[in-house]
Amino acid sequence: MSKLALLGGAKAIGEEGRALKANWPNIGLEAALCDYTGAKYAKCVSAGTAALISGLFAAGCGPGDEVITVAYTWVATVGAVLRVNAVPIFADIDPRTFCIDPEDVKRKISPATKAILAVDYYGHPAPIPELMAIAEEHGLVLIEDACQASTSEINGQKVGNLAHFTAFSWSGKPIYSGSGGGAFLTSDRHLYERALLAGQHPTVIQGLATDPDVLKYASMGGTGDNMRAVGTDAMAQLMDAEVRTDARIRNCDYLTEKLSAIPGITPPYVRPGYKHVYHYYNCLWDATPWGFSRDTLCSALNAEGIFAVAYLKDANFNFAPESKPIEAGGPIHMRTIFQERNLYGKGCPFLCPHVANPPVYSEGDLPVSEEMWKREFAFFQPDLSPPCDERDMQLIVDAVHKVLDNADALKQWEQERASQ
Ligand SMILES: Cc1ncc(COP(=O)(O)O)c(C=O)c1O
Repeated sequence: MSKLALLGGAKAIGEEGRALKANWPNIGLEAALCDYTGAKYAKCVSAGTAALISGLFAAGCGPGDEVITVAYTWVATVGAVLRVNAVPIFADIDPRTFCIDPEDVKRKISPATKAILAVDYYGHPAPIPELMAIAEEHGLVLIEDACQASTSEINGQKVGNLAHFTAFSWSGKPIYSGSGGGAFLTSDRHLYERALLAGQHPTVIQGLATDPDVLKYASMGGTGDNMRAVGTDAMAQLMDAEVRTDARIRNCDYLTEKLSAIPGITPPYVRPGYKHVYHYYNCLWDATPWGFSRDTLCSALNAEGIFAVAYLKDANFNFAPESKPIEAGGPIHMRTIFQERNLYGKGCPFLCPHVANPPVYSEGDLPVSEEMWKREFAFFQPDLSPPCDERDMQLIVDAVHKVLDNADALKQWEQERASQ
């Protein structure tokens, strides 16, 4: 008779019993994410935003703490910093990759800096090796917002185990779920356990945490937020995300070959050793040879049936074309929240007593970000991924040529609209 597990014997399900556990919501996906990235710990959460908030909370970011990040990103990155009541400090970007510039990060470090929050923008990884060196030197936590880049790599190493803490999103991203969701990944046990307190169910914290300083808050579910996992169908997606990513890269390489021959269009730059997974295929527009603006180019392409977007300006216009106007997009430091610095009506998190040096966000702070958003346009992942193939990419190229062949008509169209 074998000894009861309750009394110290081996479990009846043994090691082969992994499948029994795998059918519990998310446990299978979390194990698969660890296998895929090499991270020691993964936790599925309700969204990429939840993963970011969990990471910032785990890093101890709160009132009076500064987080160095970019103004050139989807709003969730910076929103997560505000959500933990920390102060975003913006660093400029590299004009080729659109990702954070490590040299500017160094300039922005102050005694109040707690974390660096870098974004793998459009699917091109941020310069994580350089940023890790800076973070280690200054005792900071490096959080990687890999929401747009969950299948990318640097020097053959998967994103997810490169920074101290990484956030993934499943919402229309390289690893996808129809119901949204996301995950955080880390190999740091302390960060993993603290991150659970940002929004996990009390029994999840109780089951996974071992640190008494974490367990003492478990019965309340930590901060009391609900960031519990959704999007478990990302498991199926994970199995072919790699194949889809590689097919998308082949499609984008084809686009690059064709578009780089066109004056006025600069296709995306890919840093050597970096795997750009093209959540967006981002180009720069130079109006000089054609005489009409980037916005007119996008309008003309959209009318031809090719979705082209000025992402930082109006990422959502495709989904809500008739909605009422809100403030124009652009780099985040110029938006009302940062100009007013009064989000909660009492100056927090920018001007509260915990803040030693209240930040001022001004035009001219981030010259590269302020220039790039006026020139970029992008094609979106679904139009670049299988089943789309070279023939579809050629349709995009043909549409671009059709638009440019009609430059004179477009110049006139633009002038008429300007005079209305
Ligand atoms: C760069 C970036 N960060 C964070 C997020 C947030 O992810 P989610 O929508 O799953 O909250 C997104 C989503 O689009 C994103 O693009």
